[in-house]
Amino acid sequence: MDSEPVVVGINRTQDGSVAVARGRSTVYSLQKERLTRRKHHWGRLGDLPNLYLPRMAALREPVDLVVECFSSDDEIKHVDVYHQEVLDTLRFRGEPRIVTMSHHLSHLYSAFPPSPFRAAAGMVIDGQGSPVRDFTESTPGIDEETPPDLLEVSSFYRCERGRPPGCFAKQLWDGDWDRPAGLGCFYYLLTRVMFTGEGSEGKVMGLAPFGNPQAFGLPDLVVDGHRVLIPREWLDVLADRDRFSHFLGGPGSFTDCADLAAEGQRAFETALLEVTAWLHEQTGAQNLAFAGGTALNCSANGRILRESAFDDVFIPPSAHDGGTALGCALYGLMECLGEPSEFRWTDDFLGPDPEPSAVAAAVRAVADDPALVVEQPADLATAAAELLDHGYVVAVHQGRSESGPRALGDRSIIGDARHPAMRDFVNFRVKGREWFRPLAPLVLADAAPTIFDVDRPTPFMQLAIDVRPEHRDALPAITHVDGTARIQTVESSNTPFLHALLTAFRDRTGCPVLINTSLNGKGDPLTETPEDSIACLTGTQMHALVMPPFLIRKPGATPVPRDWTP
Ligand SMILES: [Fe+2]
Repeated sequence: MDSEPVVVGINRTQDGSVAVARGRSTVYSLQKERLTRRKHHWGRLGDLPNLYLPRMAALREPVDLVVECFSSDDEIKHVDVYHQEVLDTLRFRGEPRIVTMSHHLSHLYSAFPPSPFRAAAGMVIDGQGSPVRDFTESTPGIDEETPPDLLEVSSFYRCERGRPPGCFAKQLWDGDWDRPAGLGCFYYLLTRVMFTGEGSEGKVMGLAPFGNPQAFGLPDLVVDGHRVLIPREWLDVLADRDRFSHFLGGPGSFTDCADLAAEGQRAFETALLEVTAWLHEQTGAQNLAFAGGTALNCSANGRILRESAFDDVFIPPSAHDGGTALGCALYGLMECLGEPSEFRWTDDFLGPDPEPSAVAAAVRAVADDPALVVEQPADLATAAAELLDHGYVVAVHQGRSESGPRALGDRSIIGDARHPAMRDFVNFRVKGREWFRPLAPLVLADAAPTIFDVDRPTPFMQLAIDVRPEHRDALPAITHVDGTARIQTVESSNTPFLHALLTAFRDRTGCPVLINTSLNGKGDPLTETPEDSIACLTGTQMHALVMPPFLIRKPGATPVPRDWTP
């Protein structure tokens, strides 16, 4: 190939997304929700020309190949129309080529090729993926006799660099909600009985430590090798919507909800660890690459790392469906074009390159706003650290946006982890969310093992780690009720501004920890543009926004009192 190959990956399902792999190591990835401002927005016809193309310059380059993935909804029935949209929108180098791939395989390509491993076991577990009729991979025991409507709910692979991964087992489900199956379905039902809206699984996970994991005396899930079934006792409880209606405005109690969350989380973790043990037994692999919606469960992930027989675990920052576009792009590059990929997911700043003048233009637009003052401090990190030490809440907007759901420093809200009222203030007055939701910490990587029970970098906030008991009282804003925190270790190599900010804060206060939560207001996805971030500043009660080289403050804003209550 004369010039760098360009492959576009498109995810047409939940958390619609697009990705571009250019050459061996350049990757872009962007979720639809960031553009439409509607969380978990599903991919639909029209997204490519109307949303992604204007925003992502990489899509305007000549393309060698497009790879699409669908899931279990009906959009794949319209695949011809989608293909036509691709042909009408993108400019191909040579004969247009469009490939479709099945859902779990796209998750797998988002997890193993970008991992640091030479070889690994691969595990994909989500609610429901492609039906058998749409599979683009072969699996022993699944053939033309297999009913074509069965859906994949988990898939297991042997992975080695230089050869395509081999799927050796899948759990299939007939889609009958009277007999749901698999860990993804279980957690979906657990979430749905207590909360509305898509993507509320994190609320259940945050709620679980407030409850008693044995309160209802429910059995473990049934695990048979890689298959997970949900006992009738569980299904009966999960159907009792009145009892667990506390967060839905009904008569149910908080205690019942917390107990159910705790018991469900226990059952989920126990079953996941059993499946993981089975996978290790089957493969003998040292390492695990894990993706699918269930891989966002930080408490379970922490237990896999600590308790499973795998030495190391890689979970892509976009483990959910939003990451499958990237999986499509890498699959196309490696398996369809036969090109190597040297992309390793070492940071998650995969959003479009920012327009050079965009920040200045957004700042100019608010220059006359009397509610804001714009400054250009000589040392932005030190100026922000000073504000944080005084009890102000400071957002950071810089560079390319995060591809996954966790803000990792380019679209973040930062606060003082030592402040006794900071978690409540951020939850109530900035994020507009439930009081029990934990906030995650940033920590300087070299200080992490002293404060947290961790022995390796964890840069993506995917693992719930114990805060060492002697540090819990000093860090009330990030220590959850069970003594854990979902930490992000910070190094100058992949997050230089955060490292400078944390270092300035540590030098000033002695504390190498800060709160980091996603830059968005109530119910919104992560901000994408400078205008989004300024709107978030003005629409919430946070105090300042760092948007290099600018510091935008609200003049006269008072810091959060240490005895502040909602
Ligand atoms: Fe999925």
